[in-house]
Amino acid sequence: MNIDLLAKARAYETEYGDRITETERPVYHVTPTVGWLNDPNGFSFYDGYYHLFYQYNPYSTTWDTMHWGHLVSEDLLHWKRLPAALAPSKQYDNFGIFSGSAITAPDGRHLLIYTGVEEFEAGDGSKEIRQTQCLAFGDGVDYEKYENNPVITPEMLPDGSSTADFRDPKIWYEEKENCYYCVIGSSTFNDGGTVVLFSSPDLYNWKYVSTLDKSSNDYGFMWECPDLFRIGGTDFIPLLPMKMFARGIEFHSGNNAAYLAGIYDREKHTFMRRGIFSLDYGIDFYAPQSMVTPDGRRIMVAWMQTPETKHATPQNAKWFGQLTFPRELTQKEGRLIQNPIREIETLRKEEVFYEDVCIQDRTRLPGVSGRIVDLTVHVRPGGGALYRKFTVKVAEDEELFTSLTYDPAESILYFDRSYSGFMHYILSERKAHVRYRGGEITLRFLIDRFSVEVFVNDGEQTMSNTIYTRQSADGISFEAVGGTAVIDVEKYTIDL
Ligand code: FRU
Repeated sequence: MNIDLLAKARAYETEYGDRITETERPVYHVTPTVGWLNDPNGFSFYDGYYHLFYQYNPYSTTWDTMHWGHLVSEDLLHWKRLPAALAPSKQYDNFGIFSGSAITAPDGRHLLIYTGVEEFEAGDGSKEIRQTQCLAFGDGVDYEKYENNPVITPEMLPDGSSTADFRDPKIWYEEKENCYYCVIGSSTFNDGGTVVLFSSPDLYNWKYVSTLDKSSNDYGFMWECPDLFRIGGTDFIPLLPMKMFARGIEFHSGNNAAYLAGIYDREKHTFMRRGIFSLDYGIDFYAPQSMVTPDGRRIMVAWMQTPETKHATPQNAKWFGQLTFPRELTQKEGRLIQNPIREIETLRKEEVFYEDVCIQDRTRLPGVSGRIVDLTVHVRPGGGALYRKFTVKVAEDEELFTSLTYDPAESILYFDRSYSGFMHYILSERKAHVRYRGGEITLRFLIDRFSVEVFVNDGEQTMSNTIYTRQSADGISFEAVGGTAVIDVEKYTIDL
């Protein structure tokens, strides 16, 4: 390649990055320096900083020629933008630097492992794609691609695997064995999506170990962005089943974010699946990636958008794509629990508390409003008939609102942003079964200018959604239908 795409991207960032004012961005959610962002990549702790990279096209608010953007933080709250880290420069990554992860190499350098995507002309003149796994080493700012890339090729996969859909390596180091492992998403002609495991003694020489699980054509033709970790005796494999049929209300049609729960046998390298669940029940959640903090917490971030909503760009946008607020992962009864990292408590200002408020008709509570808010509502039945529906509306004015409604008889939560002000015809509703607790439910909302993340019952379920409602619509209201609900409210403004 003749043009230095990394230098070009860095120059473009310097020129256009600063033209986006802080008020045009969310306050405590990550956005690209300029242009387009999708998956979080290389989420790691290196040399005293959290590093977070992302799939990045600086030049427009649509997906194209992937680079890696780069941010660092000391506390997972305040992020500093660094120059773009990777751009296509070789034959093996001429089509893009796709997703991957990071680790500290034994010699102290920061190692990035990513999918190089090559576009080449096949014998009949048509264009074809080949995906391989590649390394880059750096000092936390500048990275150099390994001279013998790629280190993992699709020829190393079992027969019947695709060479075009083989991506998103997630690396870790197994101390006891002094060995590196990575899981990679793959697609087979007979079984659909699979998660494959590779190992290496030295980061350079890799071998195929096993196929941990496969879709068997029940959950999509390809599994993107796998991860693997154990929490409290259960192993979890988050992954993205592509193009699947809807299953009840657990999975919608199209591309989903799911996780497998089960047991990974560390000696035999097999995985016994016990269940498959949605990782998030909102509209905008895809491509999660996790890491372990120095104090031992497993933290996950994800792209707060999906392939299905990637064209829902607001008019005149200078950036498009946000990451979820970092979530701490724990485990309960073999299921993943997700809660906002506790660091958020240091950003809470202007607290407002209410206790035992009876709700029937639509009610607004003094002091409970805003678009940069951490709000928890604990709902329970009042005396008499159990309410039939309880609704919280946020980002509300006379015309626009986004709502979350709980129906205790069905124990279903409905999220609806149909009236949030999108000018596109896009997916606007999603519902989720939640655990029935006799009409009690706790809903925590993280609202940040352009998004609403909901944490249900202390993180048993989450719903991540973008909203591009005008910022003056900052009302929050509560309503119970068919009976009385009693609520406690805890509300903070978030101030970075
Ligand atoms: C998931 C994904 C990854 C791929 C990247 C490309 O959103 O499709 O599988 O590496 O995005 O941008």
